[in-house]
Amino acid sequence: MARYYLTTPIYYVNGAPHIGHAYTSIATDVLARWKRLDGHDVFFLTGTDEHGQKVEKAAAEAGLDPQTFADRNAARFREMTERMGVSADDFIRTTEERHKIGCIALWRKLEASGDIYPGHYEGWYAVRDEAFYNAEEITEHQDGRRTAPSGAPVEWVREPSYFFRLSAWQDRLLELYESQPDFILPSSRRNEVMSFVRGGLTDLSISRTTFSWGIPVPGAPGHVMYVWLDALANYITALGYPDEDAPRWAYWPADAHFVGKDIVRFHAVYWPAFLMAAGLPPPRRITTHGWWTVDGEKMSKSLGNVLDPLELAETYGLDPLRYFLLREMPFGNDGTISRKSLITRLNVELANDLGNLAQRTLSLIARNCDGRRPAKGVTTADDAELFAAARALPDRLRTVMDRQAFHEALEETWRIIRAANAYIDRQAPWALRKTDPVRMATVLRVLAYTIRVVATVLQPFMPSSMGRMLDQLGVPVALRDLASLGVELPAGELLPPPKGIFPRYVEPTM
Ligand code: MSP
Repeated sequence: MARYYLTTPIYYVNGAPHIGHAYTSIATDVLARWKRLDGHDVFFLTGTDEHGQKVEKAAAEAGLDPQTFADRNAARFREMTERMGVSADDFIRTTEERHKIGCIALWRKLEASGDIYPGHYEGWYAVRDEAFYNAEEITEHQDGRRTAPSGAPVEWVREPSYFFRLSAWQDRLLELYESQPDFILPSSRRNEVMSFVRGGLTDLSISRTTFSWGIPVPGAPGHVMYVWLDALANYITALGYPDEDAPRWAYWPADAHFVGKDIVRFHAVYWPAFLMAAGLPPPRRITTHGWWTVDGEKMSKSLGNVLDPLELAETYGLDPLRYFLLREMPFGNDGTISRKSLITRLNVELANDLGNLAQRTLSLIARNCDGRRPAKGVTTADDAELFAAARALPDRLRTVMDRQAFHEALEETWRIIRAANAYIDRQAPWALRKTDPVRMATVLRVLAYTIRVVATVLQPFMPSSMGRMLDQLGVPVALRDLASLGVELPAGELLPPPKGIFPRYVEPTM
């Protein structure tokens, strides 16, 4: 079985999870579930990023020591992972011993390869981004504030520091982007990264001495590792690094690191450079996504518009929320979330298009076929056309999913759902009961198969409701993967009584 390793970013524990975090995790989860469905041996990692100045500061503001604070918030991210149906195989925390051991080993390796040297850092730093910026990147405002391109305030930092020889890796990085054209998806981001690297790389400060909440640098009292070196290493420490005989190590290199557009530079420039310097192969792909705004506005605590994914799932249902997030915003672009558009998609696309199709078909089978899976008789061109379109769907989606174009996968699937709705109206099986029951059975059989295909390929997006739909179609659990779509299910089998899967959302009246 082909191995497939994919990761979410690890989340800063300075605050509570919001919809942006849930989005990254859900998108990664959809691909993880898809790859499993397609017969891969998947390892899916998520976790929390717990060191650094940002977390230390937030802990101090909360009046807690950083470890207690991190424990508390890491638990909330773990809860978010579970409640969002994110099927991660492991949850790594950077304060765990296994991670620290791996980081120290990585540091020593970089030191041994001559990629680390001591010096002094002097320049701009944004705690919010945990990032160093050079002078050209800083904007000075009229009121004297200085900010990074991300909008984060910067401060002037001057301290002894170890450096990573990033400048030495410029050509190798460019070679990597050239030889693996899909290394950064979508390609607009690839161009940005390439021009950044072509513009010249300066060596990177990788230790800090003005605070202590981090992994101590081996043999250098007073230094803690720069939080991004520590954080990025999670992708290998979770696999058992430095023990390259650990069973999980076989999953390296990662097939896809999912990241938001704000953290592309760390993943597409620093991370492969660290790995190559350590003699390890770089990941195969950095899949980047855009940012959500809420009703067109940036989410922020001060605006009070931060969306809580747990509340949204509670109100509208987890699967509708997952569907909405992947359908509404073309993966890679930015998008805006509003309750109104979520409700519209839920009521139109889920309750109406898909829910009604299943409900109509299954209740006709219940009523007119004694609740037994109908048999196929002679088929017409109309039947063959729908059947063939459904049968071809998994292959079409495979290509689309390999580009992580989730919205396109959903559009392709809805094309089939709409075709099936048009087919049922055209064939009017309800009118055939008396006149031509054999024909009615054939039509219902074609529809049941189409719904089976649709429910099968939609499982990664909406695991629990599609599981229920497949239950109602009497598809055994062992036959719910893509490969089993070729296995015909016997006619005459008794199906469970149909139940609506997607109730319409009606605004509660006060
Ligand atoms: N700790 C780092 C990642 C280290 S990975 C080695 C970090 N954490 S984060 O908690 O700030 O962000 C995690 C992810 O959430 C990022 O991919 C980021 O893009 C995503 N999002 C945060 N807000 C978002 C939106 N409003 N919309 C979409 N995703 C956003 O960065």
